[in-house]
Amino acid sequence: MAKQAESDTDPQTAAAVFAGLSFEAALRDRYDGQAGRDIFAKVEGFKITEQARAAQLYPFFQALDRNDGPEAEIYGRRVVMLGSNNYLGLTRHPRVIQAAHDALSDHGTSLTGSRLLNGTTHLHERLENKIAEFLGTEAALVFTTGYQTNLGVISSLVNRRSVAVVDKADHASIYDACQLAEGGMLRFRHNDARHLDRILSRIGEDKSCLVVVDGVFSMGGDIVDLPGIVDVCKRRQARLLVDDAHAIGVIGSGGRGTASHFGIDGAVDLTVGTFSKSFASVGGFVAGDRNVLEWIKHFARSMIFSASLPPASAAAALAALEVLMDEPELTDDVQRKGETLRNGLRDMGFDTGESQTPIIPVNIGDEVATVTFWRDLLERGVYTNPVIFPAVAMGKAILRTSCMATHTDEQIEFVLDQFQALGRKHGLLP
Ligand SMILES: Cc1ncc(COP(=O)(O)O)c(C=O)c1O
Repeated sequence: MAKQAESDTDPQTAAAVFAGLSFEAALRDRYDGQAGRDIFAKVEGFKITEQARAAQLYPFFQALDRNDGPEAEIYGRRVVMLGSNNYLGLTRHPRVIQAAHDALSDHGTSLTGSRLLNGTTHLHERLENKIAEFLGTEAALVFTTGYQTNLGVISSLVNRRSVAVVDKADHASIYDACQLAEGGMLRFRHNDARHLDRILSRIGEDKSCLVVVDGVFSMGGDIVDLPGIVDVCKRRQARLLVDDAHAIGVIGSGGRGTASHFGIDGAVDLTVGTFSKSFASVGGFVAGDRNVLEWIKHFARSMIFSASLPPASAAAALAALEVLMDEPELTDDVQRKGETLRNGLRDMGFDTGESQTPIIPVNIGDEVATVTFWRDLLERGVYTNPVIFPAVAMGKAILRTSCMATHTDEQIEFVLDQFQALGRKHGLLP
């Protein structure tokens, strides 16, 4: 494991390092100063990641030796995994592993083609039917990733006469989808239904609107004000898409997500989800009315022009969903673990923001302080995720932590002990 960085790193250098670590187009463009004819010219100036590694401030692309769910191994050391989206801990569940094995034997490694042509199996259809049954919708449609789901769903619906209206804290895939869509995009203040109302009131009657919100926000762990948003959408005749990537399996009755959490099942027009979190696999889906999905199926470029979800991944997701339907108490377990960790951190004096779920940010602010804290935690056997600019605003860096249903009480206690010891050492606690 890397040695701890000097704590007196010049803040300006550190800020420059972290600004350089961002991959936003605007920041990428500044390397184009050396442009000219060669499109690779810009990469010559891109030394910032090397500098960050040399300063032992580079926190990304860390290779795990093993991932065993609630625990992992990195640099030859066992750590409590507090930085994954494996909320129900099902990546090591025997039923899920067996289902993936069987699909691999039955169908081979890949279908090597789009769902539209040779890439659909009965396994994909069974998975779609099971999701629709679980969420109580007419139908569901499976994509190869959650990212591609948002890309395909939003860009196929938001045409030149439409506007997508998104929460400022929505996931990057929603923003990317809006760039691909031909229509416009407007943003409303985070979780502010009144501001959404104002924005919708200014959009002309000739434009159709799709409001897009995350159910549980991926960085803050807060839950969208769905009743407020639904009310505004109804009054303003806007359709509503909820991205429940972090909500399915985690909140709502039996893990049915945000609408269920508020007891307003059926109030959402489209629900997007992913298999890369609670469902212990990879892939994504959209659930809603059959006729809307029929449209999406034939106009979503990310579905038509990309290979389908491999059978082993589809089988793993289906098995994980079946486990959740058989053992709905998994949702209570992950919530309980989250509550213990959140209350423990808050009681010590850490700022965990608006978190209401097992996604618990620890707000630190300074980028260098965040990364050195992350690295010290790792040294002590706790794996977390440092989230820095541009994923959050400059100077608003966080450590993102998340719990699993399969974390033991001892593991959570161990984690809290490490936070307490290091919080004091780093001057984050009194
Ligand atoms: C809210 C949200 N939507 C969509 C995605 C994309 O999901 P996937 O990993 O399946 O591409 C993510 C992934 O982190 C997410 O957090």
